[in-house]
Amino acid sequence: MSKEPDNELIVVSNRVPSPKSSGGSQGGLAVGVMNALQKNEGLWVGWSGEIDENRDAQLNHYEFDSVRFATFPLTETDHQTFYIGFSNEVLWPLFHYRPDKVDYSRENLEGYLRVSQRYARHVATLVEPHSRIWVHDYQLIPLGFYLRQAGINVPIGHFLHTPFPPWDVLRILPDYENLLRYFSAYDVVGFQTKCDLRNFEECMRHGFDATFHDDGTIEAEGRRFRAEAFPISIDLESAQELARQGVESNIGKRMAQSLADRTLVMGVDRLDYSKGIYKRFLAFERLLEKAEHQHGHVVFVQISPPSRTDVPEYAELRTTLERIAGHVNGRFSDYDWTPLRYLNRGYSRESILGFLRLSRVGFLTPLRDGMNLVAKEFVAAQDPEDPGVLVLSHLAGASWELQEGALVCNPYDTEGVADMLDQALNMPLEERKERWQRMMDVMRNNDIHHWCRQFLGALSAVQH
Ligand code: G6P
Repeated sequence: MSKEPDNELIVVSNRVPSPKSSGGSQGGLAVGVMNALQKNEGLWVGWSGEIDENRDAQLNHYEFDSVRFATFPLTETDHQTFYIGFSNEVLWPLFHYRPDKVDYSRENLEGYLRVSQRYARHVATLVEPHSRIWVHDYQLIPLGFYLRQAGINVPIGHFLHTPFPPWDVLRILPDYENLLRYFSAYDVVGFQTKCDLRNFEECMRHGFDATFHDDGTIEAEGRRFRAEAFPISIDLESAQELARQGVESNIGKRMAQSLADRTLVMGVDRLDYSKGIYKRFLAFERLLEKAEHQHGHVVFVQISPPSRTDVPEYAELRTTLERIAGHVNGRFSDYDWTPLRYLNRGYSRESILGFLRLSRVGFLTPLRDGMNLVAKEFVAAQDPEDPGVLVLSHLAGASWELQEGALVCNPYDTEGVADMLDQALNMPLEERKERWQRMMDVMRNNDIHHWCRQFLGALSAVQH
């Protein structure tokens, strides 16, 4: 007898994977949570990606890739204030240690709270006595608080996919006390790394006068909750399988042909200033200056699908990257060699994983990143007999787990990154295999299913 679908696990995030948009532009949240939900029955609630002026629009229920979804549209004003204005012009830069890019207004804060309340109203209609609610990321931090206000008393967890900043950065935000208050409405609060967790604890201590109990719980606002690090990961087997298929696909074969035996260096990131793409291009230019023997032999392919194009910082970055890519190619290209291919569009996950398998170097140098799942996908995608080398920023959450095998660099040190890229390009096969094995061992112990079990296990342990 088949089981009736129930709402035991309700996942809420602003972005849900869209059948229409190409994988690369959706970021790590959509990939990670989709992988997690495919093996766990659950209902995923989020923004439909559409704009509609009807504030009372009902949830649209549908199924896609074996996951059940319930989505609703946002009004233009809500999109402008909640998504663009507060989530992406205040919280995103602040959480990525970039206060210089913060553009705060009270109107946007009000929009942020108004939309969180709207989410709460929708989610409240779905809750059953045995539901557990799992809220994702910086766009929806107040959701737990509003659900509690609506009398919802089931376990609610929050996982932050971005970094969490130190106390002195957080308090740049006017009204930061309320942001901390919202966290205390959850039962379990999850972060990517121990560093994010430490920052959060420091903020709760100094900014909110919370009490830390011996059993590991934090007490604030008359509630006790747990805060822990749960580093997100990927579905290892499915990534390996997709990578093998990707190489054999038409696109994979054409990519290999186009390289004509040249060595491939690959970067894949949403077009975002936190990803350090500009500095990465400079480091590649520096490599070409220093290592003439690489001329004609190395091709750096950077895939950066446009992201958050309505936010001015992102539009500016796009122009800057076009300029520097043109400059590097203008300086070094030859009649039969273009060193830098900058692709400003998304590709299917299968194609991306296939490209990663073809690469000798995964070049991922964010200036700050919650995790960077592409780093883990790069490792999973490799051919065990001839694996590539990961050059990874030490400011990506992934470096905590992958540091034993990756070449870990400081993305601000252009000279150092160029040297590391050179080292990666010259690394002997034996060392490549050893380093890859070390990273795979870590990833086998913490794949997406382990991540999901750990978080939901912590949430299930909550007594109400
Ligand atoms: C990052 C964030 C996600 C976000 C994604 C794509 O991975 O952590 O919350 O969904 O970027 O950004 P977007 O603004 O298009 O949702």
